[in-house]
Amino acid sequence: MQIGIDKIGFSTSSLYLDLVELAEARGVDPNKYLIGIGQAKQAVIAPTQDIVTMGASAAAQILTETEKAKITTVIVATESGIDNSKASAIYVKTLLGLDDFVRTIEFKEACYAGTAAIQAAKGLVSANPDEQVLVIAADIARYGLNTPGEVTQGGGAVAMLVKANPRILTIENPSVPITRDVMDFWRPLGATEAIVDGKYSTNVYIEMFLDAFKRYQQLTNDQLTDFTALAFHLPFTKMGKKALEALLGEDHSAIAEQLRAQLTASQQLNREVGNLYTGSLYLSLISLLANGNVKAGDKLGLFSYGSGAEGEFYPVKLQPGFENAFSSQQIEANLANRTKVSVTEYESIFNSQLGMNTADISLNIDADPNQFVLAGIQDQKRIYQIQS
Ligand code: CAA
Repeated sequence: MQIGIDKIGFSTSSLYLDLVELAEARGVDPNKYLIGIGQAKQAVIAPTQDIVTMGASAAAQILTETEKAKITTVIVATESGIDNSKASAIYVKTLLGLDDFVRTIEFKEACYAGTAAIQAAKGLVSANPDEQVLVIAADIARYGLNTPGEVTQGGGAVAMLVKANPRILTIENPSVPITRDVMDFWRPLGATEAIVDGKYSTNVYIEMFLDAFKRYQQLTNDQLTDFTALAFHLPFTKMGKKALEALLGEDHSAIAEQLRAQLTASQQLNREVGNLYTGSLYLSLISLLANGNVKAGDKLGLFSYGSGAEGEFYPVKLQPGFENAFSSQQIEANLANRTKVSVTEYESIFNSQLGMNTADISLNIDADPNQFVLAGIQDQKRIYQIQS
């Protein structure tokens, strides 16, 4: 049985920060951010948005009522959960209007959990072909004001429907997971910002990518020429370039140049949004499908990475007619319609979210154009609303 991604969509906040303005405010050459880091804009998550509202929006954009009725499992993969106990997938299930006969769970392992959710979804479908699994990879990346990681913040959600006989791509074997116990990025209980050893984290990422890819080649005898493109977890777009260049070295063959060009295509959407942790690889996949030189039958290699650290390299195969099952127009229009906030406004929004998870609050939802919003917190219960 062929199993894979049947539909894919993306949603983020309606606010963004121009990173040239952030560079000026921080006294940094803008080219450090634009070229050195490879980011142009960063999603600023409005107080009325979180992983639940963005995840529900991403799913609502791609699912018909008939498809919703067939969903058997919802998995939300996230680093930025909203409760220590209750799964965010339960709130998503309610906002989407799914019926009660559905399994709802949350997966965690930093930025990697989206891939764990995809592989678990594949397992569920292979055990029972009637399973249709909604995988949501949603996060808000926060490092803190005036930190080196500040320019690599962002947020958003990617929703994917995993089922038998998928229209977009099949998830192929072998997949190569890799785990090493390292402290490159973590977030102690109660902390709203990550602790990160930034340079070390980039080195661990590269080492684990090279080791996973080498093992994949040992298992398959596949060469670079077997892939049309490689797509990467992109905490910032330069990270994908670092990893690809570590693999290619001084190779300027036709396939090496092709992989470089496809990487550029896969970075486009991420440059505008920033890091969305679990969703970053899959936003990059959308960007590749929309902007890359790909066709049905092509094999793509995906590298997922989550600090702590866990990675996975796995191949996928594009299906005939995949371009009809997927559209980036809505995503691009939503990004183009975002409202720019000043550095001062961004700082004020950022500070207002410190500790917001525990205090009761009523939020102004009038300014938020998104369909799903967080209206406030009462008695430590999150209150979500659907706007028409
Ligand atoms: N023009 C062009 N480039 C410039 C420049 C200029 N004027 N000034 C500086 N640069 C370049 C530097 O040469 C450097 O390039 P290389 O990395 O290719 O050497 C780049 O800009 C970054 O500059 P610094 O070396 O000074 O690095 P920094 O102190 O600004 O920190 C960072 C960069 C470590 C990535 C930091 O932003 C960070 O800690 N980010 C968060 C951690 C992260 O994203 N890690 C990624 C791996 S972990 C992961 O993937 C999981 C996850 O999502 C968190």
